[in-house]
Amino acid sequence: MDMELKGKTVKESRTVKASLILPSDTNHHGTIFGGTIMSYVDEVSAIAAMRHSRKPVVTASIDSVDFIVPAKLGFSVCVDAFVTSTGRTSIEVFVKIISENLQTGERQLTATSFVTFVALDEDGKPTPVPPIIPETEEEIYLYQTAPQRIKMRRERRNATQQFYDSLDITKDI
Ligand SMILES: CC(C)(COP(=O)(O)OP(=O)(O)OC[C@H]1O[C@@H](n2cnc3c(N)ncnc32)[C@H](O)[C@@H]1OP(=O)(O)O)[C@@H](O)C(=O)NCCC(=O)NCCS
Repeated sequence: MDMELKGKTVKESRTVKASLILPSDTNHHGTIFGGTIMSYVDEVSAIAAMRHSRKPVVTASIDSVDFIVPAKLGFSVCVDAFVTSTGRTSIEVFVKIISENLQTGERQLTATSFVTFVALDEDGKPTPVPPIIPETEEEIYLYQTAPQRIKMRRERRNATQQFYDSLDITKDI
């Protein structure tokens, strides 16, 4: 039987990273590559999940990412990640990406996503994580709406599995 782990607040693991958008981060439109943002999303949310669990974690899934506005060369991009919900061994992290025109101070929401991590023990097996304690209005809203997102992910996963089962997906690799 699992030992009851002590709950932790969201602010104990919240992780923020700001970066300057350099020429090497941009495409031929002078805006940041989507893949660069995805990499920040994975990295910053993984730190939040490891701060929460104090265990190694693997990324189990990243929800769809909608890029709302482009972030331009010379802007900063700030990635803010915090734990919104926990299961037995999984941790859901919400990620906001905010771009800032450093000359005018104008900030815009560039993208959001949810990333799910699974904490692993020394044998690489899923291991229990502490429950999360939401405190602010935003944290409570995201906590209360998590079961619906988890249900949608499970349904998507089952549909994907059925798709794999109907094809020999690795045959031609
Ligand atoms: C994630 C992984 C550890 C889950 O292993 P598993 O054998 O399916 O484990 P379980 O069925 O016991 O599920 C463990 C938890 O993960 C959750 N989970 C599993 N797959 C998931 C997915 N695709 N999305 C969200 N949650 C998922 C389960 O709901 C369960 O949560 P809970 O304990 O909080 O209820 C395994 O699929 C894996 O190692 N995947 C590769 C991870 C990786 O390498 N990531 C880097 C990118 S390739």
